[in-house]
This record gives sequence, structure tokens and C-alpha cells, in this order.
Amino acid sequence: MKHALILGASGDIGSAIAKQLAAKGWSLYLHYNQNKVVVQQLIHQFIKAYPHQEFFGVAFDMQTKENLPVFLQSIFELDALIFAQGTTDYHLLTETSVEDLQKMWMMQVALPIEMIKAFQSKLAHSNNGRIIFIGSVYGGFGSAMEVAYSTVKGAQTAFANAYAKEVGTLGITVNVVAPGAVDTQMNRVFSKEDHQKIAAEIPVGRFAKADEIAYWAVQLADDQAGYMTGQTIYVDGGWLK
Ligand SMILES: NC(=O)c1ccc[n+]([C@@H]2O[C@H](COP(=O)([O-])OP(=O)(O)OC[C@H]3O[C@@H](n4cnc5c(N)ncnc54)[C@H](OP(=O)(O)O)[C@@H]3O)[C@@H](O)[C@H]2O)c1
Repeated sequence: MKHALILGASGDIGSAIAKQLAAKGWSLYLHYNQNKVVVQQLIHQFIKAYPHQEFFGVAFDMQTKENLPVFLQSIFELDALIFAQGTTDYHLLTETSVEDLQKMWMMQVALPIEMIKAFQSKLAHSNNGRIIFIGSVYGGFGSAMEVAYSTVKGAQTAFANAYAKEVGTLGITVNVVAPGAVDTQMNRVFSKEDHQKIAAEIPVGRFAKADEIAYWAVQLADDQAGYMTGQTIYVDGGWLK
């Protein structure tokens, strides 16, 4: 049985990935930071629907490395590592403190890299090890007022480019799914008018559904996706990339 760890399984895109992988027979470690209830509900639903698979909830605040050793010890078998956690901040760069930047870097780049180092041998043992980041179109295109966020998302792409070359012969693939605008909690900050304005700029004419992003992560996790590595796949409705 295959096991995936989904960081940010309590978020909208992470939950959508969890639902699709569970339906395909995966056992899951479902990570959350504050939203324990969402993960508890997912586990409840999955245990009923898929009684022969395993489901575990794991908590960890990724803005600090304090609890990393304990977190690492809670993961046993692992075939896929999926990073769907992340937040953004809307500030001009001149209003972004070094602490803000450090937190974002820690959560979306530094700790993911520490986890990957710790789990490399487990993923190699799988023969079909998979590392998937949910990046952002802003990592390849850039967004004013989100310079720090664009920087960490660009770093995820740069990391995947390079690390894919180091672990290709171990059967581990490393890719980024980079969404445009997705209809999730993260975008609830926009007014209805702003939401409509953004949607009007997108050739497909609307925000993505979380399931439409999860779909690509799930394809990359498949055993048959072993020849796709070091890539950033832009899933943005034809918007920016
Ligand atoms: N929505 C979009 O338009 C969009 C576009 C491009 C890329 N993305 C990327 O997609 C990923 C998922 O976003 P989403 O739209 O699904 O947002 P979401 O629903 O707000 O989910 C965010 C996730 O990040 C977790 N998280 C927040 N702070 C954390 C911390 N300190 N430590 C560990 N985890 C933390 C949350 O956990 P808790 O809820 O448990 O605290 C939650 O699971 C992010 O990397 C985001 O950058 C989103």
C-alpha cells in the first residue's frame, strides 16, 4: 500500500488532493497547523469509505523548526511528499520585515527542504518516490504586493529544477504544480468586485476549483509519471504563463 504525506491537508487544495488520493487507494498522513477539525473530518470520512487504508493526522507549525524532529519521527512509510501548505501577505516590499520574510521562507522552502533531506532514503526505497510542491504562477511571473510570496514560490521551482537532477536515478521525481487563481480560503480576502475583475482577466473566465489543481498533483504521484521530473506545470486557465 502506498503512503503520502500531505502538508496542508487542512487547506482547500490539500483536502482536494487528499480526497483524490484516498479514492485511488493511498494511505495518508494528513498535516494541519490550526485546522484540526478539517483533518479529523477527513479521517472520519476516509476510514468509513476506505477501511483497508491507513489515515493519520499530524500537526506542525511550519513557521518554526522547533518541533521538526518530533514531526519527522511520526512518519513511517512514505512514497509521496506533497507540499500544499502556504500563505501569502499583501505588502509593498518596503513594508515587509525580515521576520515576515523568514516565516514565509521557513514554511514554504527551508522546512520542506529539511523534510526532503530526512525522507530521501524512504522515498528512494519506494522506487517511485514523488515530491510535489503546490507552487504558484507568481513564482514564474511575479506579483506586486506579494514580492516575498513570489520569491519563495520561485525558490520552490528552482529547488525542483536542481534536486530532480540529484535524485533521478533513485526513482524520485520532483515537480511543482503552479496554480493561478483558485477559489479557496486564501482568496476570500478579495471583494466580490475584485474577484470578478480577476476572473475577467483569465482566458478561461473564472477561478480554478481546488479539484482542478489537485488533479495534476495526483497525476504526478502516479507510478506511470516516473519520466516527468524537474518541471513546473502552470495550471492557470491561460492567465499569466
Ligand atoms: N488559492 C490560490 O489562489 C493559490 C494560487 C496559487 C498557489 N496557491 C498555493 O496553494 C497552496 C494551498 O493553498 P490553499 O489555496 O489551499 O489555501 P488554504 O485553504 O488557506 O490552505 C493553507 C494551508 O496552509 C496551512 N498553513 C498555514 N499556516 C501554516 C503554518 N504556520 N504551518 C503549517 N501549515 C500552515 C494551513 O493549515 P491550517 O489551516 O491547519 O492552519 C492550510 O492547510 C499554498 O502553498 C498556496 O500558496 C494557492
